Amino acid sequence: MTTAFPDTAVLESVLDLAAQAPSVRNTQPWRWHVDQRGVQLFADWTRRLGDTDSDRRDVVLSCGAVLHHCAVALADAGWSSRIRRLPDDGVLAALELEERPPGAGSHELAAAIAHRRADRRPYTGSLPAGMIELLMLRAERFGVRLAVVPTVRWARIGDAEFALRYGDSSPGHPGDDAAMLVLATDTDTEAMRLRAGEALSDLTLAATALGLASCPLTEPLKDERNRLALACEVFDGEAHPQALIRLGRPGAGDPLPPVRRRPVAETTTFDLN
Ligand SMILES: Cc1cc2nc3c(=O)[nH]c(=O)nc-3n(C[C@H](O)[C@H](O)[C@H](O)COP(=O)(O)O)c2cc1C
Repeated sequence: MTTAFPDTAVLESVLDLAAQAPSVRNTQPWRWHVDQRGVQLFADWTRRLGDTDSDRRDVVLSCGAVLHHCAVALADAGWSSRIRRLPDDGVLAALELEERPPGAGSHELAAAIAHRRADRRPYTGSLPAGMIELLMLRAERFGVRLAVVPTVRWARIGDAEFALRYGDSSPGHPGDDAAMLVLATDTDTEAMRLRAGEALSDLTLAATALGLASCPLTEPLKDERNRLALACEVFDGEAHPQALIRLGRPGAGDPLPPVRRRPVAETTTFDLN
């Protein structure tokens, strides 16, 4: 019996599109291996930015984002993927592929991949009604919680930087109409960090498809005091903040240019003989 499997050219174009996933400081800290069993995702720890637990978290979140981008791109190419997370030592995820015609939802998300950018510019106007509730439901599908960070708890602190404001005498002020969302997980395991990265990808693509601007942020969570205070205030101390997403209606200005990605040949090994 022969099992259907995508052509190498299809897989290359899927992985090329998946590489558009957001990653911490565009480090793209992942590797792929493709063989007849499917597609395997590994973290590339050599690309992490430092040795702290936050740096490891950023790598796994970024890998979660590329994993979700890959599944979306595969679905749009007519291949549904069954994902096993952390199936073996060192493997973050294994995708088994099955031929299936793409659904309308997956096409919308896949089409958003090329347009999503981490937009650090000011946003304008309030979010469409029901938007946060919709994103909460989407996050739930990944077993991840989503909440709104109170406006007085965060501020823009530079052209492109944001900070949380706990234990600070001056209340925060976003300086625009953005909402700040926080993604959190019930446990702080590698598997849940991966899930949070997948949810981050799903939410930012869904927002892009709806014409909204977004930017994932983890820098403001690096201060442990802020991270704990946020967890206490927003989740009653019962969840672990993994990442923030700034969300809003795009301001005036040209679309942001794409940021360079690593070619598939640099991140992927194929063993299809
Ligand atoms: C886990 C993670 C953490 C990130 N943290 C920040 C951050 O703290 N500040 C920021 O400006 N951008 C942050 N980003 C956005 C990346 O810098 C951005 O995705 C990358 O530069 C590629 O640009 P693009 O998303 O526009 O393609 C983060 C992205 C991810 C996935």
